[in-house]
Amino acid sequence: MLVEVKNLKRTYMMGSTPVHALRGVTFQIEKGEFVAIMGPSGSGKSTLMHLLGCLDRPTAGQYFFEGVEVNKLDDLELSRFRNQKVGFVFQSFNLINQLTVLENVELPMVYAGIPKAERIERATRVIEAVGLGRRINHTPNELSGGESQRVAVARALVMNPGIILADEPTGNLDTKTGVEIMKLFKQLHENGATVILVTHDISVANWAQRVIQMKDGVILQEFHQKITADMLQL
Ligand SMILES: Nc1ncnc2c1ncn2[C@@H]1O[C@H](COP(=O)(O)OP(=O)(O)O)[C@@H](O)[C@H]1O
Ligand SMILES: [Mg+2]
Repeated sequence: MLVEVKNLKRTYMMGSTPVHALRGVTFQIEKGEFVAIMGPSGSGKSTLMHLLGCLDRPTAGQYFFEGVEVNKLDDLELSRFRNQKVGFVFQSFNLINQLTVLENVELPMVYAGIPKAERIERATRVIEAVGLGRRINHTPNELSGGESQRVAVARALVMNPGIILADEPTGNLDTKTGVEIMKLFKQLHENGATVILVTHDISVANWAQRVIQMKDGVILQEFHQKITADMLQL
């Protein structure tokens, strides 16, 4: 088992008012799965992704990754875990405009202390793998949305992470470009990657093999087949 989450909770404080974003979520994910998480805005999807990616810590509950209880790691161990085990893809790409495509993709390897020559070789390889070889010396503001998201995927892949987490990766893309990005995720999955993807679009969720539906900070139901709108209890 790759991921095991037990009764995970996250409460934010808004001044003195608690916001219960996650109210107790339990699930397991095997290596090589392609999972979509669906749910309306505010249902806790991004909160869950941030916990899975160790960008945040839970208020209660447990998170095991490859059998290691991640919440027990100190901040330094946690940042190393994030760097080596997690590839994150965001809706808004989160690229650095002052850096070229190559430099953006090199960045996780800079943090990992990998020497320059190896960085260039590995970054070049993943940039070519996502079909952006011709754009390698461009900066993000010279790219289309679809190209920018490909760079973000290349950056997420370059450390060979155990898991790819994508929070609404097609949310800022038109339908056709979104399909191209989903083809890329499907290809990663077919090559053995574990992918967890958040979306509120049924057609995007149906690229996954398993769909978890969330509502109000809990898991409402789960599917292992293609879904239709009437299957979701909206
Ligand atoms: N940093 C934060 N501080 C306070 N409340 C937050 C914070 N992040 C999210 N929330 C609240 O937690 C709930 C879940 O948010 P989120 O996880 O972003 O949901 P989703 O991604 O499904 O839209 C919402 O009510 C949201 O307003
Ligand atoms: Mg969100």
